[in-house]
Amino acid sequence: MRPAIREALVCQLAPRLLSWFGREQRDLPWRRTRDPYRVWVSEVMLQQTQVGTVIPYYRRFLRAFPTARALAAAPLDEVLRLWAGLGYYSRARNLHRAAQVIVAEHGGRFPRALEAIRALPGVGEYTAGAIASIAFGERVPCVDGNVLRVLARVHCVTGDVRTGRTRRRLEALAWEAVPAERPGDYNQALMELGSLVCRPTDPACGECCLSDLCEARRRGRQRGVRTPRKREGTRRVRAVAGIAWRRGCVLIARRPLEGVWGGLWEFPNCRPVEGETDFETLTRLFAEGFGLIVEVGERLVSLTHGIMHERIELAAYGCKVVDGRTKASAHVAVKWVRPEELAEYALPAPHRKLVLQQLTPSARTPARR
Ligand code: ADE
Repeated sequence: MRPAIREALVCQLAPRLLSWFGREQRDLPWRRTRDPYRVWVSEVMLQQTQVGTVIPYYRRFLRAFPTARALAAAPLDEVLRLWAGLGYYSRARNLHRAAQVIVAEHGGRFPRALEAIRALPGVGEYTAGAIASIAFGERVPCVDGNVLRVLARVHCVTGDVRTGRTRRRLEALAWEAVPAERPGDYNQALMELGSLVCRPTDPACGECCLSDLCEARRRGRQRGVRTPRKREGTRRVRAVAGIAWRRGCVLIARRPLEGVWGGLWEFPNCRPVEGETDFETLTRLFAEGFGLIVEVGERLVSLTHGIMHERIELAAYGCKVVDGRTKASAHVAVKWVRPEELAEYALPAPHRKLVLQQLTPSARTPARR
């Protein structure tokens, strides 16, 4: 595209997008505030999770921790409990740590300078750009997958938009196009257009406020300009979990802070080694991992869930403790709790499902033994 034409195109993006956004934007709770703390929480929650899922979590989280100070002062356990089910728990741990940095280094006020925002734990280029533009009105872009796709189509940039020269070119275009007026609305409009209209596989060009400016559309290439995620194939794996009972209580264990589900509580579980039966796996797990001799009972339920690149089929069994002293080895803590107390602990979604299906008063087949 010739520079003069490109410049004319870039000039038209903001007015078109802002006027479309004014008419069509979704009414979302984080759009009713400019509080940088709230904008930050919403952007972190939205990083890997869909809008509809985020809304109730966002509301609950801000009710519990209305300010960075409140979040910094809360125990990590409580933060994880309110995050439980959203996944990618390092996000919650980073939010908590960053809130403590805000208190320790910025007197509890959210920093305004882009560099200071960027320096907070867990804040990358995208999140810093979102906070700086939406909360502080700074003229910076925020470039996520949706924005890359919209810009790639408008300018008909082909190639792998996520890496290398193509990515750098699109980022330069993104910087160029951010207006000085309402940069936060402009950024949100681009993201909104990418998720509602300029969709990855079925762009609704007939409804698009940029369609007559779009170079990919002019060339009939809009379906060819995509932002495919490099997905590794998912592996199917099996795991077994034991709900162990002793004197009306069940055993839960807390995972180390680092790694998947870091800091969350779970029922003892592991993957069977080749050739082992579930019965043998659980007997070994409780003996080696928890110092307990158990009688493995009936299979209660089987659940499937995904973590990273794996589909995990988790078979849960009721177990009765017959001997031993409870100890933790791979976990940082173990606890015997009454089923009604489990709501006070942060459990990952599939383990929470086990509680709901097996351990609540309304569960049809009580596993208690
Ligand atoms: N995706 C992530 N953050 C967003 C925002 N503020 N507006 C629209 N889509 C988003």
